[in-house]
Amino acid sequence: MNLSTTALLKEAATEHAVHPLIRNRWSARAFSAAPLSEEVMHTMIEAAAWAPSSMNEQPWRYRYALRGTAAFEQLWECLMGGNQPWTKDAGALLVCSGMTLLAKNGQPNSAWKHDLGLANANLLTQAVSMNIYGHLMGGFDHAKANAVLSIDETNEEVFCFLALGYLGEAEQLIEPFKTRELTARSRRPLAETVMAL
Ligand SMILES: Cc1cc2nc3c(=O)[nH]c(=O)nc-3n(C[C@H](O)[C@H](O)[C@H](O)COP(=O)(O)O)c2cc1C
Repeated sequence: MNLSTTALLKEAATEHAVHPLIRNRWSARAFSAAPLSEEVMHTMIEAAAWAPSSMNEQPWRYRYALRGTAAFEQLWECLMGGNQPWTKDAGALLVCSGMTLLAKNGQPNSAWKHDLGLANANLLTQAVSMNIYGHLMGGFDHAKANAVLSIDETNEEVFCFLALGYLGEAEQLIEPFKTRELTARSRRPLAETVMAL
């Protein structure tokens, strides 16, 4: 199974003419040895930063480490067992956190997770446009991540990690990850999501 066959298998079978950048994104697990540069990391994060946010608070924060660095190892150690085998080859690990309080008055920002999600969606779409694939992960040790990153929990919360990289071959993965990489994606029918009033 070569890369383009996997990409075809993973392409969203949409009911409408959805943009290819959205159809062709998936949560990849097989990453190639090709490194990610600081330039592409900053390009993706700048795309994230241009997401809309409630009152333009821009609550998202990103910290990242490139593969091969001590910081990458430290972040990788924070991941749950089910996420460690396939993320070791990622080009970078990115920590997605949010400021939980409004900068303007210190009150809770009820929109921070929503806005971080919007930013992450931008980041993933920009990534696909550069042939980079991302895989979000909620499976990490929060206490460890807070300690490693010296997070001030009074106003910041780590929400998820994101593995990023150029595509590798599914064959390089151990099971069950290989099978998951070779399984088509699915969504429930659009009619169960949308209601025209
Ligand atoms: C907030 C969040 C947390 C996730 N956590 C994990 C995780 O810990 N491990 C994992 O393998 N996938 C994780 N995923 C990926 C989802 O399982 C994946 O997006 C979903 O199955 C749809 O697949 P697709 O992204 O390929 O379309 C997470 C996704 C999101 C948005």
